Amino acid sequence: MASRIPLVAGNWKMHKTIPEALEFCEAFVEQMPSPPAGVEVAVCPPFPALHPVAQRLRRTKYWVAAQAVHESLSGAHTGEVSAPMIGAAGATGTLVGHSERRAAGETDTQVAERVKAATDADLRVIMCVGESLEVREAGETDGWLTAQVTSGLALLDHAREQQVTIAYEPIWAIGTGVVATPDQAQEACAHVRLVASNFVDGARLRVLYGGSVSPDNAGELMALPDVDGALVGGASLDPDKFARIVEAAT
Ligand code: 13P
Repeated sequence: MASRIPLVAGNWKMHKTIPEALEFCEAFVEQMPSPPAGVEVAVCPPFPALHPVAQRLRRTKYWVAAQAVHESLSGAHTGEVSAPMIGAAGATGTLVGHSERRAAGETDTQVAERVKAATDADLRVIMCVGESLEVREAGETDGWLTAQVTSGLALLDHAREQQVTIAYEPIWAIGTGVVATPDQAQEACAHVRLVASNFVDGARLRVLYGGSVSPDNAGELMALPDVDGALVGGASLDPDKFARIVEAAT
């Protein structure tokens, strides 16, 4: 853990209009003008708020990321947004392969292509992986994660490996209030690191935990040896809760 800087990222999902997003920024920056020493912090607003939030946080050390990206640079892809567009909006990263996107049709192949397209465009990527309750109860979690990590990193250019973070988000823990136990989180994140080591320097790779992270459980989860931070959904919508989770990473 010593060589890995923890990252706490807030995924706002389909929440916050532009005024609401800016209101969050004001309150959050007032409470925490910059990230505590040794911690990185990102927020992932919905697309309309991406540029305004990036502008607002430009002079801070917070980074701003999109929630999704398309694999093509441009073209006839109604409703999609490319990596260069995200960069030009002032964001420096993007999520890829969130389970909610996968459930809406994002395939393993697209995840791999999107990791490549985003990293090639100089964006940082938080690639999300995670198993359903069904997979966990069948005892197939490791195999599932192996497949997702292996396919997701398949096209990554070696020179880009430091731009990648992986978030382990068990689907059964997302938005449910049912958080993974420390043993479950540690075991899965260690497995993700092991598999990812076939593609990147595993000792330097950041692996985050996501799924019902709150100010109450964040400290214990982020203290685990293979957990290098958190990807936070619901609790990241509230500036006070999000700041408390960031503090728990120190
Ligand atoms: P919750 O923190 O709301 O469970 O969401 C987790 C998540 O999906 C973050 O990407």
